[in-house]
Amino acid sequence: MDNGQWAMSFGLRTTLYHSPFALYLSLTFTINIMANAILDIQHLKREFKMGSETVRALKGVSFDVQPGEFVTIMGSSGSGKTTLLNILGCLDQPTDGDYLLDGVNVKKLSRNELARLRNRKIGFVFQSYNLLARTSALENVELPLLYNSTISSQERKEKAMKALEAVKLADRMDHLPNQLSGGQQQRVAIARALVNEPVMILADEATGNLDTRTSYEIMSLIQELNTRQGKTIVFVTHEPDIAAFSSRTVTLKDGRVVKDSKNENVKSAKEALDSLPVNDDY
Ligand SMILES: Nc1ncnc2c1ncn2[C@@H]1O[C@H](COP(=O)(O)OP(=O)(O)OP(=O)(O)O)[C@@H](O)[C@H]1O
Ligand SMILES: [Mg+2]
Repeated sequence: MDNGQWAMSFGLRTTLYHSPFALYLSLTFTINIMANAILDIQHLKREFKMGSETVRALKGVSFDVQPGEFVTIMGSSGSGKTTLLNILGCLDQPTDGDYLLDGVNVKKLSRNELARLRNRKIGFVFQSYNLLARTSALENVELPLLYNSTISSQERKEKAMKALEAVKLADRMDHLPNQLSGGQQQRVAIARALVNEPVMILADEATGNLDTRTSYEIMSLIQELNTRQGKTIVFVTHEPDIAAFSSRTVTLKDGRVVKDSKNENVKSAKEALDSLPVNDDY
């Protein structure tokens, strides 16, 4: 075989051996991308027994969320939003159906494994901030790290300070919750949710107690976490102007999904904030 023939044969063999492999790789890659939902819920049901009565809060809810999505969950009072979010945050278990968190079926985990998974993957933000009253902003943010014995107290402090910097509250780290405004308290709660570097933030009416300007400030921060850091966001709200900042809205009614739509025209919370009239009451 001369050099030319060898090169041809090598070229042919490379094509024969490598292209099915390339095809296999690209197929696996595609399947992986498609299968890699950060959360995937299938036929979720949640019933609450109240004496002889059964409240069916979720009646078979299915959808998935891809990494990096910003989804709002809407629906009127009692439609099942908090019930759903508590299950997504592993704070509650469904009566029936499956929940896969980053590919892991949470049903199959022990209590400890579940706690570890939740602590690592999820940051939770509540409507009422849930900060410890007699504890400084910094210590509140350090709290989730206390469960991790491999982190030294020095490291804990550094991580908490970094999280407070990310929500622009480094200068308030020694303040107690009652020495902070509502918006600042919610930012401390967001820093606490961020301190473990979770891939996903779950928020239940996180702007529910705040005025419009402060709500937009919080939403601007949430949008930044989503676009700059790629955090997946699932945000419960019943305010349409808040939902307009997300890229997709799932609507619940009586424990069922009645609408799941992409938002083609995502509004910028920062622009909405800048366009608010300046308050000249005082
Ligand atoms: N622990 C519980 N025990 C009994 N019933 C419950 C419990 N939690 C929720 N429910 C019922 O489940 C239904 C859904 O409640 P959920 O709190 O999920 O609604 P929601 O959409 O979050 O409402 P809201 O907008 O008012 O916060 C309601 O009918 C509620 O009364
Ligand atoms: Mg609720």
